[in-house]
Amino acid sequence: MSHQIDVEVVHEVDDLAFHSTACPAPGVSRQHATVIPLIRPGCSPRPAGLMVPCAHVLRGSIQRLHESTSTGDPPMETTEPLLRLRDIRKSFGAVQALGGVDLDVPAAQVTALCGDNGAGKSVLIKCVAGIHQPDRGQIRWQGREVHIRSPREASALGIETVYQDLALADNLDIVQNMFLGRERLRHWLLDEAEMEQAATATLRELGVTTVRSVRQRAASLSGGQRQSVAVARAVMWHSKLVILDEPTAALGVTQTAMVQDLIRSLRAHGLAVLVISHNLNEVFAIADRIAILHLGRLAVQAPLIEFDRRRVVSYMTSGEAGTEARL
Ligand SMILES: Nc1ncnc2c1ncn2[C@@H]1O[C@H](COP(=O)(O)OP(=O)(O)OP(=O)(O)O)[C@@H](O)[C@H]1O
Ligand SMILES: [Mg+2]
Repeated sequence: MSHQIDVEVVHEVDDLAFHSTACPAPGVSRQHATVIPLIRPGCSPRPAGLMVPCAHVLRGSIQRLHESTSTGDPPMETTEPLLRLRDIRKSFGAVQALGGVDLDVPAAQVTALCGDNGAGKSVLIKCVAGIHQPDRGQIRWQGREVHIRSPREASALGIETVYQDLALADNLDIVQNMFLGRERLRHWLLDEAEMEQAATATLRELGVTTVRSVRQRAASLSGGQRQSVAVARAVMWHSKLVILDEPTAALGVTQTAMVQDLIRSLRAHGLAVLVISHNLNEVFAIADRIAILHLGRLAVQAPLIEFDRRRVVSYMTSGEAGTEARL
């Protein structure tokens, strides 16, 4: 039986609050530690030492990417997809953002979530990421109904979300960003060498080779590198599903290709990817499946092969296949 250590770490970095997640550590009884705050604007981003009541039990809690895909929960006994949403509804006052969405996200596939501006894409993924609570509907994860009440609970399930704007803290380096909220400790101190090694290995496994040094501050990274580090951080923690909200919207050609390669790499490692994209070239380049939202409802979801560009545009703009569609 595996046990959980809950390590709640709240960081305040440039007005961003990061809440940590649970770190699995086999053979260790449940313990708690609260460290507030590690990092504040204007202060040294790397504290000299860190004292928590259960420092020793954190050792070994960080698993490498290949371990995360080969161990963990037993295989699903059902034929259900990894994530299944049914009749998800969400309103903000009089604004109905989601009017009953059904969506399936299978493992080891890239599902592109498309839709016009305001269709409800971001609200939907925030319901899965624990930021919003649906007003109604069911979220099934690995065949079981779950209630995801916070990003921390989403992380504990294996769901990581990368938001374009909030992906990294500029004043921290790559290692610090990747371990933010889940720092590794050794003899009551941050285990910098171990974290550096793990960050380097994870980036290498994902094929991210363009960063000069893992001690580079995030502020000095290109857009594509920032996204890569954010994704690498997501997959380092036993993630089974990585959600990306328009990861390449602000990127140039080369950087976009880098992030798209990374998404393929996640799929190759067996992870499910749910990626929001407005870019049809990108959708057709990376997706296995397409799901299209229209006015807060799912217009269609099907394998990529069942679509051409015109059909996708038609669903996005009218919610229907359109009379001139191929299929
Ligand atoms: N926090 C909020 N409060 C009130 N209304 C909201 C909130 N978040 C989203 N909405 C509304 O919900 C609807 C869906 O918004 P959402 O952000 O999900 O759209 P989207 O599909 O992600 O669009 P885009 O492609 O422009 O990012 C919109 O009408 C939006 O104004
Ligand atoms: Mg959005």
